[in-house]
Formats: sequence, structure tokens, C-alpha cells
Amino acid sequence: MKTLADKHNNDNINEELLKQMAYNEKMAELGRISSGVVHELNAPLSVITSAAQLILREKEVPEFVREMVGRIRSEAQRLSQLTRGLLNFSRQDEATEETDINLAVEFILDFLLYEAAKRGVTVLRNLDYHLQAIRMDGNLLKQILLNIIMNSLQAMEDGGGRLLVETSANSEGEVQIVIADTGPGIPEDVQKRIFEPYFTTKKPGEGTGLGLFVTKTLVENMGGRIEVRSRRNRGTSFTVTFVVKDAE
Ligand SMILES: Nc1ncnc2c1ncn2[C@@H]1O[C@H](COP(=O)(O)OP(=O)(O)OP(=O)(O)O)[C@@H](O)[C@H]1O
Ligand SMILES: [Mg+2]
Repeated sequence: MKTLADKHNNDNINEELLKQMAYNEKMAELGRISSGVVHELNAPLSVITSAAQLILREKEVPEFVREMVGRIRSEAQRLSQLTRGLLNFSRQDEATEETDINLAVEFILDFLLYEAAKRGVTVLRNLDYHLQAIRMDGNLLKQILLNIIMNSLQAMEDGGGRLLVETSANSEGEVQIVIADTGPGIPEDVQKRIFEPYFTTKKPGEGTGLGLFVTKTLVENMGGRIEVRSRRNRGTSFTVTFVVKDAE
């Protein structure tokens, strides 16, 4: 059983780690933009990216136009990645608001609509609307969901995949969020390492390997836990569990 002092120490260490990873001054500054604005930015950026992609697929496009449209696409993609990162840094101090878990799930699924469509992934949701709101920083919850769901989408690049997000209360009165995909699964030797910082199986430049490390740190900081289950060629599911604290 962890004492309060242990938890406090852990929180301090984890907080230091997170601070180190708060990339740089610029991100922190930009982080003051509210997540609502960030969300709104993502939709037009997705349209710009896909329109550029459609033009680039055309056969008789002059070389000059091709080059310019290529630039538009890569800059729009860069901005879209930036907006995703920003969700993490907005309103960092608000750890005590009442957060509706289902709303956070809906927000992130909506936010990643284009990422799912691009990969031909069908998104299913099974949300328990009787869930209690939980006292936590809603933006950190969004970051947790974003990291796990992005991994699932990235694991299903070949098209035809399915993603299921489920929320429920378990018999102990804890709140559970399950994110399940039909991707290739994670081999056992890899599974042991996925929460390590900088562990990635992605090509250089495609993944930092920090996603799940940050996710686990955040979840544990918030008094929760994260578990993974995976079967080769069947898919992977991540379960995030939070304790509902009684009102003081
Ligand atoms: N749903 C999943 N299906 C298959 N493999 C996964 C899944 N989720 C995570 N992984 C594996 O876990 C590794 C670590 O994930 P993590 O999110 O920490 O880093 P990353 O995705 O590689 O990089 P980043 O998150 O910075 O983009 C991934 O490289 C991948 O091999
Ligand atoms: Mg990742």
C-alpha cells in the first residue's frame, strides 16, 4: 500500500520528467491557446492536406505546381502535428475540474476522424452514459487517449481495420476505458518494452518512442493504471482504469 508521502514523492519525480519533456519555450507559450481552438484548427488543416493530396494524384500537373502543392501539403501536415502536441500543454494546472470521460473520448475521436478515414479504419464506440464525472485534468486525459488511439491507427495502415473505444464502470466502481484495434498485435518481447522511454519500432523520424511512456506516467500520476493485451494478427487492446474518488 502506497502512503501519501510515497505518492507525493512519485508525483514529484514524474512531474520533473514531464517538465523535461515539455519540449521548449515555444511549445509552452503556444500551449496557452485553448484546446477548443486547437480542435477547430485541425479540421481545416485536414481539408488542406487531403485537397493537396488529391491534386498530387492527378497525372498532368506541371512540375512547378506539383512542387508548390507538395509544400502546401507538408506544411499543413506539420501544423496538424503541432496542434496535436498542443492539446497536452493547454491549461496544465487545472487538475481538479470535473471531467466527463465520454466527452473526452468523443472529442478525441472527432479530432482524429481524418486520421482514421485516411487509413480506412472503422471507428466504433460503446460508451456508458451513466458514468460519473471524475475529478481530473481533462486535457491530460485527452492526451492519454490521443497517444493510445494514434498508435492504434498507425498500427492499421493497411486499411480495413477497426477501432473500438468502450467506457464502463467495473464492479469496484472504477471507470474503465478500453481502446481495442484489429492491428497486427504486439509480439511478446516487444510488449515488455513499449512503456520504456524512447522505445519505438517505427522508422527514424516517425516515432519518438515517448508516447506510451508519457501516457503511463500521466495515468499513474492521476492515480490510475494502464494495461495492455495483445494477440498476434488479432489486435491489441489498452485498458485505462481510474478510481472515482468520493466527494470531500
Ligand atoms: N496498438 C498498437 N499496435 C501495435 N503496436 C503498438 C500499438 N501501440 C503501441 N505499439 C508499439 O509500441 C511502440 C511504442 O509506442 P509509443 O507510442 O511509446 O512510441 P511510438 O508510437 O513508436 O512513437 P511516438 O508515440 O512518439 O509517435 C510502438 O513503436 C509500437 O511498436
Ligand atoms: Mg505513439
